Amino acid sequence: MRKKIVAGNWKMNLTFDEGRQLLNELRLLRLDDDKVEVIVAPPSLYLSQFSFTNSNTLSLAAQNCHDKPSGAYTGEQSAAMLASLKIGYCILGHSERRSMFHESDEWVADKVMACFAEGVSPILCCGETLAEREAGRHFDVITKQLTTVFKRMDKKQAAYMIIAYEPVWAIGTGVTASSDQAQEMHAFIRSLISTELGREEAEEMRILYGGSVKGSNAKELFDQSDVDGGLVGGASLDFSSFKDIIDAI
Ligand code: 13P
Repeated sequence: MRKKIVAGNWKMNLTFDEGRQLLNELRLLRLDDDKVEVIVAPPSLYLSQFSFTNSNTLSLAAQNCHDKPSGAYTGEQSAAMLASLKIGYCILGHSERRSMFHESDEWVADKVMACFAEGVSPILCCGETLAEREAGRHFDVITKQLTTVFKRMDKKQAAYMIIAYEPVWAIGTGVTASSDQAQEMHAFIRSLISTELGREEAEEMRILYGGSVKGSNAKELFDQSDVDGGLVGGASLDFSSFKDIIDAI
């Protein structure tokens, strides 16, 4: 059985003290190690100070990294640097980075490969815009975003990969994909993994849903057979709203 994940993407939010307090509260949760893993992605500036967080049930993720191990890339951080801090996960290809920072599918694939090389697990995001969904192109968009990466991977790497399906129209809008829409896309993604990487790999890979997840809709989403947890933005910034989502597992 796939262990569920609830991941919080803080994006560019919370001061250092606010973040530390939130992590201290999360650390006190008694979570069932067999059932759930909580991952928190604070701003990278805080990662080294927050490494006290890492435990069996609570881990840290970065929100992005560069594809090169080192060099003249002002303002960037490499997967090697994350590994040197024992940061186990890195969110890659978030739609905000694709749209605002012009990250192409190929560049995201380079970053994924850089993470694998350093033993950092990528949380690879994919998602279509509202216009793409309305034009009936959502399956094509997801296929391109994911196969660009899958084509470069081997079966062993698949064991370290996590996918997050985040429809752009549901991010920060308060509009969540219905559980049927989420399940339909997650099942599609799983079949894509099966074709590109293998059936067993598809069975084992966790596929998270992201986009306006909150306590009130989390259970219905997480109960879908191909939804293995959530990637949460706004509702991960406050202890009680994030806990409500974790409790929905
Ligand atoms: P919201 O939960 O705020 O919609 O954000 C989702 C997201 O982008 C997580 O990466």
